[in-house]
Amino acid sequence: MRIDILTLFPEMFKSFLEGSLIGSARNKGILDIRVTNIRDFARGVHRQVDDRPFGGGPGMLLMPGPIVEGVESIQGDGEPGHLVMLTPAGRPLTQESVEALAKQERIVLICGRYEGFDERVKTILSPDEVSVGDYVLSGGEVAAMVVVDAVSRLVPGVLGCGESACQDSFSGSERLVEGPQYTRPREYRGLGVPEVLLSGNHRRIADWQKKQSAESTRLRNAQVTQQ
Ligand code: 6GU
Repeated sequence: MRIDILTLFPEMFKSFLEGSLIGSARNKGILDIRVTNIRDFARGVHRQVDDRPFGGGPGMLLMPGPIVEGVESIQGDGEPGHLVMLTPAGRPLTQESVEALAKQERIVLICGRYEGFDERVKTILSPDEVSVGDYVLSGGEVAAMVVVDAVSRLVPGVLGCGESACQDSFSGSERLVEGPQYTRPREYRGLGVPEVLLSGNHRRIADWQKKQSAESTRLRNAQVTQQ
């Protein structure tokens, strides 16, 4: 899979993209992830990328030129791919939408900054507008990393054990949350491990895990409803 990221802060992605899971998938050629600086498409001696909003208002807006021309340049290299704009006004990212993105051959992510994008970027490019939650981040970079992380681990070969992605919380049609899990030591600060997990009885263990997962899901859904 190929992923392009268009950003004003390419250095923010360095350790993220070189890190263990994504870094080794890139080295293996499973993921081709490239970062492009929006400023490379800015004009004039000052390489300006932002300006004050017409009609007044707080802060600065990203100018349409560098973004539109940056996207066109990236897309000129191979197939256009699925264009995603990271914005708090976008549709909320869910495991379901992550699964759909993971099926794309290519994704192009546009990260915003300041007060947002000039509306004409949306008119011209018609991007899929995506938000990572109901809170405001200072820019789309962290949100793009959320998308890249969640999508990458669904690309075949990225995770060590091929099975592990489908066991995750929220994967599959039931959208279950995982129940509690334990590792060594068997006792920590006076707290033990549920006896069933030490029983070696795989049937009983599977039943217990299923019940715990259902209970964790019920508690989690009750919290979501309360908000
Ligand atoms: Cl995608 N961008 C920004 N700036 N803030 C956000 C977001 C995106 N998603 C949630 N908050």
